[in-house]
Amino acid sequence: MPEASGTTGIRLCVFDAYGTLFDVAAAARAAATEPSAEDWAARWPALSAHWRRKQLEYTWLRAVAGAHVDFWQVTQDALDWAMEAEGLESPALRKRLLDLYHELAAFTEVPEVLPQLKAQGLQLAILSNGAPVMLDAAARSAGIAGLLDAILSVEDVGVFKPHRAVYEMVGARFGTRPAEVVFVSSNGWDACAAAAFGFQTIWVNREGAPMDRLHGRPAHILDDLTALPGLLAAG
Ligand code: LAC
Repeated sequence: MPEASGTTGIRLCVFDAYGTLFDVAAAARAAATEPSAEDWAARWPALSAHWRRKQLEYTWLRAVAGAHVDFWQVTQDALDWAMEAEGLESPALRKRLLDLYHELAAFTEVPEVLPQLKAQGLQLAILSNGAPVMLDAAARSAGIAGLLDAILSVEDVGVFKPHRAVYEMVGARFGTRPAEVVFVSSNGWDACAAAAFGFQTIWVNREGAPMDRLHGRPAHILDDLTALPGLLAAG
């Protein structure tokens, strides 16, 4: 639930992409409903969870090691690990999942919330680990590309979140101070790091997870994005 106070002095609302605007489980869920896939339909939640967890681990490890590759490569590497872990050996399924990942569905409230924020006079942007081609495809297929003032990809700095260089991209692009920015992420670790950087930060805790014990604390916690326009208007 939102806290009583709103946010102040905000001109720009910046969203994390995967898990925040785009439903990362949608690819495995959609593939599991296809006729050819009935034998692994019961296994998609485990596959999807392995895939996301490894994808994030690989971004953190590559950032620490200074061994960057783009998020599309990380996404494929993580899927290969997840499929092997689940005993799934199917080039056709691998290709189908990756094709679906390119056009991930947005969470249901996203197409309603973003126009409301625009109508409130806010600029809107994505700041994501995603490679530009992935983010453009997902924003287009979700029908939100026209509402975004910028799609910022870590590819411009060559290191993944939560490196400070990523959060610094916002000020470099929009000329904002961190305190003038609301940053919205469903990833607790991303929300903590963004708060430590100085953004007014909102954690969208879609999974009811415990707060990460990290540097920085998000100022607000929401269950999904529905209450975001009201929270920002209250500021
Ligand atoms: C992103 C990942 C962290 O979009 O979800 O940057």
